[in-house]
Amino acid sequence: MTGFFITVEGGDGAGKTTHLTFIYEWLRGRGMNVVRTREPGGTDVGESIRELLLHAVGKMFDDTELLLMFAARMQNIEQLIKPAIAKGDCVLCDRFTDASYAYQGGGRGINMDRIAELEQWVQGDLQPDLTIILDVPIETGMKRTQKRGEVSDRFERESMTFKKAVRQSYLDRAACFPKRIQLIDASGSIESVESNIEAVLSSFCECWLSGKAT
Ligand code: TMP
Repeated sequence: MTGFFITVEGGDGAGKTTHLTFIYEWLRGRGMNVVRTREPGGTDVGESIRELLLHAVGKMFDDTELLLMFAARMQNIEQLIKPAIAKGDCVLCDRFTDASYAYQGGGRGINMDRIAELEQWVQGDLQPDLTIILDVPIETGMKRTQKRGEVSDRFERESMTFKKAVRQSYLDRAACFPKRIQLIDASGSIESVESNIEAVLSSFCECWLSGKAT
């Protein structure tokens, strides 16, 4: 028996944390054992790398940032993701490699082929079975994060141009991988976004279970 792998992505202020909890509860409510993790992070080593990535003082080179993202990912995959899937659990990950394409590829301008090489090295043929991208206009997302008043990290402090490029890269990825990636407009109320997420999850689980039965 193998489990499945769901990832959730989105720009700042897309409501990722709230909606991840909704997805977690929804899956558990259907009797699934869900392992929740995040990137960068998820493991002890990964969380130390996350601290560096989000709050490093001084200049970090773009390639250093990319390599650290994939170093944390390697640890998460080997320690947590692969064993959980092999056990038949559902892994729910807050961001994954689509974020590297969006932030380091789109935002920083690193060549996508270089990211693809790291993806191949670190993941082999591991890919999410379903990715939900929560999409909001940059201005809406920024207003939401400013309201929360949290201390910002290196990525949240980036320019409007950077944030626009990140959003565009996510949209491009959704267009490139329409089977795996479901793009959800997250600018509406929590209830309306959750109802769209629920429709995506129901249809995914139905397909998954019918695939298992054949
Ligand atoms: P978050 O998990 O709280 O959203 O913060 C993680 C930040 O790290 C977010 O701004 C996106 C960024 N990030 C990348 O730049 N590349 C990656 O591969 C991942 C997983 C995250």
